[in-house]
Amino acid sequence: MGSDAEARTMMLKVRHKSQIADGVFLFELAANEGGELPPFTPGSHITVTAPSGQKRRYSLCNDANERERYLIAVKQEASGRGGSLSFTKEVMEGDTIAVEPPANEFEMAKSEPTRLVFIAGGIGITPIRAMILHCLRHGKENFKLYYFTRTPEMMAFRDEFASSSFKGKVVLHHDNGDPDRAYDLWPVLEQQRGAHLYCCGPRGLMDAVRDVTGHWPDSAVHFEDFVGASAPHADDKPFEVRLAKSGRVYEVAAHVSILDTLRRHGHVLASSCESGTCGTCRCRFTDGEPDHRDLVLSDDEKRHDIMICVSRAKSSTLTLDI
Ligand code: FES
Repeated sequence: MGSDAEARTMMLKVRHKSQIADGVFLFELAANEGGELPPFTPGSHITVTAPSGQKRRYSLCNDANERERYLIAVKQEASGRGGSLSFTKEVMEGDTIAVEPPANEFEMAKSEPTRLVFIAGGIGITPIRAMILHCLRHGKENFKLYYFTRTPEMMAFRDEFASSSFKGKVVLHHDNGDPDRAYDLWPVLEQQRGAHLYCCGPRGLMDAVRDVTGHWPDSAVHFEDFVGASAPHADDKPFEVRLAKSGRVYEVAAHVSILDTLRRHGHVLASSCESGTCGTCRCRFTDGEPDHRDLVLSDDEKRHDIMICVSRAKSSTLTLDI
């Protein structure tokens, strides 16, 4: 731990909290005495500490031109690791919370594409909204948003995007949980024609968009895995983790991470996002075959490193160099 961002942690006041969709809460954060906050660019996130002590990353969803507040929309994930549940239930208006300053791993390209395609699934709308507000403020009207949620009630900012000011620029779609009713993106993405694509949402949507943009240049496709690649798989199996330095061996249960397993056995290990996106929990492994689920490591790095907050093992034992 002890990162630069942590050293610059601010205590911000929750100026407003409201529910904006089923299970989705909007928080407005500001400096205690008002005044300007550290600036951010569209696509940025902040890291907050939930009352449970867990840190969570949330994208800023307001216009980056607003200098005195941060807006985050948080989805209550009852089945998650408890950070969002604690945050949405326990953080109230008037509370003060610890916030690490904005960082951006989902930057908009500096080039001027012929058109912009935004694809958002569920709470993945948050960084996309900041991008769209940025486009509107700069008079860039050459964008189209495809925004998907299971039901209309789960759609944050639905009234805004359904309003006449977005006519012709937004497609809102609900599949009611039926894969057969998923929106067909192929006609939208079949031809790149100088476009840039920004996509944020759950794993299934990201995978589908990756599949249909395989023929696009890498530089034109931008993903933010908001939920993290960490969602447990139904067929996750237990395996053993061996610590090379002490020789200790622990069983990692099917639905418990390596990180949590080691902590339960008294090991003190750094983490931040716990969703495979920040790089804090990186470890070297020396034996075994990992099942990489992070969004941080390059293919090269995956040959010797692993993110223990989300990744697992394909082999029966994985040896970590700790
Ligand atoms: S804690 Fe962020 S990648 Fe593991």
